[in-house]
Amino acid sequence: MTIGKTGATVAMKGAGYYSQSTRGAKDVIDNATGMLVEAVAAIPEPPANTPLQIADFGAADGGTSKKAIRETVVALRNRFPGRQILVTYTDLPSNDYSNLFKNILGLTEDQDNNYYTEFQDILVHACGIGFHRQLLPDASLDFGFSATAMHYISEKPCEINNHVHVVGAGVETRVAYAARAATDWENILLGRAAELRPGGRLVFMNFCKDEIGRYLGNTDGINMFDTFNQLWRGMHDEGRISDAEYLQASFPQYYRNTEEFSAPFQDVTSPVRAAGLRLISIHTGLVKCPYRAAFEDSSNSMTTREFAVSYIPTLRSWSETVFLNALDPSRSPEEREALIDLFYQRYEDLVAANPNGHAMDYVHCYIAIEKEL
Ligand SMILES: C[S@@+](CC[C@H](N)C(=O)[O-])C[C@H]1O[C@@H](n2cnc3c(N)ncnc32)[C@H](O)[C@@H]1O
Repeated sequence: MTIGKTGATVAMKGAGYYSQSTRGAKDVIDNATGMLVEAVAAIPEPPANTPLQIADFGAADGGTSKKAIRETVVALRNRFPGRQILVTYTDLPSNDYSNLFKNILGLTEDQDNNYYTEFQDILVHACGIGFHRQLLPDASLDFGFSATAMHYISEKPCEINNHVHVVGAGVETRVAYAARAATDWENILLGRAAELRPGGRLVFMNFCKDEIGRYLGNTDGINMFDTFNQLWRGMHDEGRISDAEYLQASFPQYYRNTEEFSAPFQDVTSPVRAAGLRLISIHTGLVKCPYRAAFEDSSNSMTTREFAVSYIPTLRSWSETVFLNALDPSRSPEEREALIDLFYQRYEDLVAANPNGHAMDYVHCYIAIEKEL
């Protein structure tokens, strides 16, 4: 059995920083919550005396999906009154589960959508094993959901020698990442196929490369990953970080396109089809960067520095661990922290000096799947 290595290095910034700084990811989920409600309307009634089971795969601290999970719970309660509902949150072992449970129990500042305290007979579990494997018992899941998580691949097939992300890599590297992502996607689907009850549903909102080549932070302005690379490379060229530290900072991610997401459903010989999964719908969509939108709406009452200060934390919430973990372990924690602070300070200074084109627009592929009855 192989366990992906991504878990050793990927983590959202903890202690609540993730969902406080990631309004855009919450907007993505909130805007598409209708897909979750539709899925609930389509699932068959589970056997008598069986709890309804839903899961959020790659949930981080659970803050961004709280409203959507509440609406799913409401829809389930309306359809199947009196049933226990088991909500399982999954993520990697490195995730901040303490903050996840604080969010669910309503022990944080966010007091909205506290479905756990609002409704009776809700059970909440968490699983710290990656979603490339089966996580729940056979035929026990009624509805599975995932947002902005499945672009993480289980393992980097190679380091990227000229960039921090495969979007800027050469052809050979891109092909190796695409192959890893294809195997991972099949494993994700086979895991879910085993977990789903016949007639059960999945809704995924996955980062993607859309039909015109757009992806996170690369829509119509400056490419965010090129900026990360330029700044990290600059620290290398100044001698602040070593060759190895430059090389090790790359994201274990791949943005699949619609064809890549659809492939296992279209190939009649694929194990995913044999396992009973069918694609119901697939489309791409863009959600604007809320920090950029607030800056534009402020009609110059917000300074460029204020915009930069509001914007950088949303990048930092999910990217910091990649750069931090690339630094040599022989450096003291203070030295590492100072280098990372300098890196993001430079990004902030760049945006404050000229904010034109800086925005982290979200580009997603929205996918609904069912398991045959
Ligand atoms: C950008 S966050 C998204 C969190 C939340 N779903 C949202 O939409 O705001 C990505 C999450 O996926 C998790 N993740 C990455 N690889 C994973 C894997 N193999 N299995 C489970 N979770 C994973 C990360 O740890 C992180 O919490």
